[in-house]
Amino acid sequence: MKYKVLELLKNSKDFLSGEKISEEFGVSRSYIWKCIKNLREEGYNIESISNRGYRLIESPDKLTYIEIEKYLDTKFIGREIEYFESIDSTNTYGKEIARESNEGRIIIAEEQTKGRGRLGRDWQSNKNEGIYFSIILKPKLSPEKISRLTLVGASAVVMALDELGIESYIKWPNDVIVNNKKLCGILTEMAGELNSIDYVIMGIGINANNSMESFDEEVLKKATSLKLELGEKINRQSLLASILNNFEKLYLEFTEEDKFESTLKIARERSILIGREVRLIRGNEKENIRVIDINENGELLVEGEDGKERLVYSGEVSIRGKDGYI
Ligand code: BTN
Repeated sequence: MKYKVLELLKNSKDFLSGEKISEEFGVSRSYIWKCIKNLREEGYNIESISNRGYRLIESPDKLTYIEIEKYLDTKFIGREIEYFESIDSTNTYGKEIARESNEGRIIIAEEQTKGRGRLGRDWQSNKNEGIYFSIILKPKLSPEKISRLTLVGASAVVMALDELGIESYIKWPNDVIVNNKKLCGILTEMAGELNSIDYVIMGIGINANNSMESFDEEVLKKATSLKLELGEKINRQSLLASILNNFEKLYLEFTEEDKFESTLKIARERSILIGREVRLIRGNEKENIRVIDINENGELLVEGEDGKERLVYSGEVSIRGKDGYI
């Protein structure tokens, strides 16, 4: 009910009397007052003047459905949002609820206490600063095609950043880079059998309004945030919605039409690795390679130290610059 009251306040420029709101919903005025109190506790700035009623002054910077809905133009991605002020990890929770969830449901948290990155790393997830979410997907794809989904996610992030006028690059397979530093990471996890998929959880973490203090010293060497790059806070709600809008288009093209071209085009054009000599790390093994291309299956075509061309699959590898992050 409180969100119905909120909707009413959002749609009204002028004051709305408690009496009018209570008549609209057929509930008592004291119940409306409780709703207003609850909304204020959630961070909504609602003015109240006796004899005039209530007026919404400002909404909080929260990633709730009611706040991002106005920017969304998707059919199913993000149409169900489970929102947490704090959670261990949206990916971990996503795995718990995936089987009973509809495709496209997303889990969002303002803070993660055990945010997870690839290869067992942590993902620093300070409260209300970044964007931390996981999308539940149930694609009818064979498991070998799943790794391509990470590139679909990364390309959607690049497209959304383009809309903000920020040029970003993809560090295959799962990082989005701005100004040679990591802005976003993607953790794609799946459950299924050898030849069928139950579900995929795509977890995306974006350093949006993080300040320098929110990163550890080690992380700061290779990470950046939109706030640090632009010198001002960005609107997390519209950025999140734009990622979801772009993601749905690329995802449907890939899963329904079996076309990977649009994603591949972005992944190639915005690849920070193609043409570079980098270090490939697999466990304790390190090798210097030259990246030639990303092939039509989303795999990395490289020239190894032996001078031979071969493919690298995303699984357990990480790629570093010869002297630093890229
Ligand atoms: C990486 O770069 O290693 C991947 C980072 C993925 C972080 C996101 S934040 C939302 C989701 N929940 C997690 O615990 N991890 C992913």
